Amino acid sequence: MSEKIPLLIDTDPGVDDALALLMAFNSDAHEVVGLTIAAGNVGLAHTVRNALKLREVAGCGHVPVFAGCGGPLVHAPREDAAHVHGRDGFGDVGYPDPSGRAEAEHAALAILRLSHEHAGRLLLVALGPLTNLALALRLDPTLPQRVARLVVMGGAVTAHGNITPVAEFNVGFDPEAAHVVLSGFPKYDLADWEATLAHGFHHREVEKWLAAPSPRAAFYDAISRQTRLWSEDRRGQYWHSADSLAMAWALEPDGAVEMAERPLAVETGFGLARGLTAVDWNRQTGAADNARILLRYDQARFEARVQAALAAA
Ligand code: BDR
Ligand code: CA
Repeated sequence: MSEKIPLLIDTDPGVDDALALLMAFNSDAHEVVGLTIAAGNVGLAHTVRNALKLREVAGCGHVPVFAGCGGPLVHAPREDAAHVHGRDGFGDVGYPDPSGRAEAEHAALAILRLSHEHAGRLLLVALGPLTNLALALRLDPTLPQRVARLVVMGGAVTAHGNITPVAEFNVGFDPEAAHVVLSGFPKYDLADWEATLAHGFHHREVEKWLAAPSPRAAFYDAISRQTRLWSEDRRGQYWHSADSLAMAWALEPDGAVEMAERPLAVETGFGLARGLTAVDWNRQTGAADNARILLRYDQARFEARVQAALAAA
């Protein structure tokens, strides 16, 4: 058996997902055992195609890609994130078709199978709406027993949302799925949108990283250009890459400087608070501390890992 930590990534690529995937592929300590794909940032046909392209750019064509759910579990989403990531999710640069195709197995079934194959060792990282994971969990509620660690990018832990006033995109896109997963796993690590905002990259630094003489940097420079321009215009001098922060913490847990464990529940009602991740900061409910929330991560380690992933040959 490989000494490397088996890493399964559920994702909806997406520009920040792409950076997170490059970081994962570049980790010597981890073996990416699959990419399970959800709809989210854009539709499933695009997110699957983007995943296939990204694995090719990273020289990891052997990593299987599994297409999953084409939309939320129950209710249609309010909107996707094409205005941020481009209509195709990768900046509309018109990249050539990837070689290879997705496996026939559905993402939810692949999650369950891989959880058996790597029982007790699997690192599961969720970077998109939690639809595939929720389906897997409904099919087999014992899934958490075989997952060594679940890291989720999602939520806004003091209700400063990015898709509604209170909801973060991944949770807001499919609140029912988020409820199933975040109540079905007794413990998980959560890197939320507010942590993302506290760990921006200076745009001028990013431009230097993207000038690295590597195909990965060149590809990433191209697909991220539109979203970086949008971000600088909207949010100022720092660029925020949610999924790459979650991935940094997943790959290098020692980099966490401050965390908090609290009970967390997802609001699935249809009022203003739909998609809210309600954190019981004062432990008033008596519920168990299910969420370990990332508050601060070592910025230098984070940036070094991103730079290394971009520069990798
Ligand atoms: C999350 O939403 C998506 O747009 C990003 O890829 C990230 O996973 C941030 O709210
Ligand atoms: Ca994502």
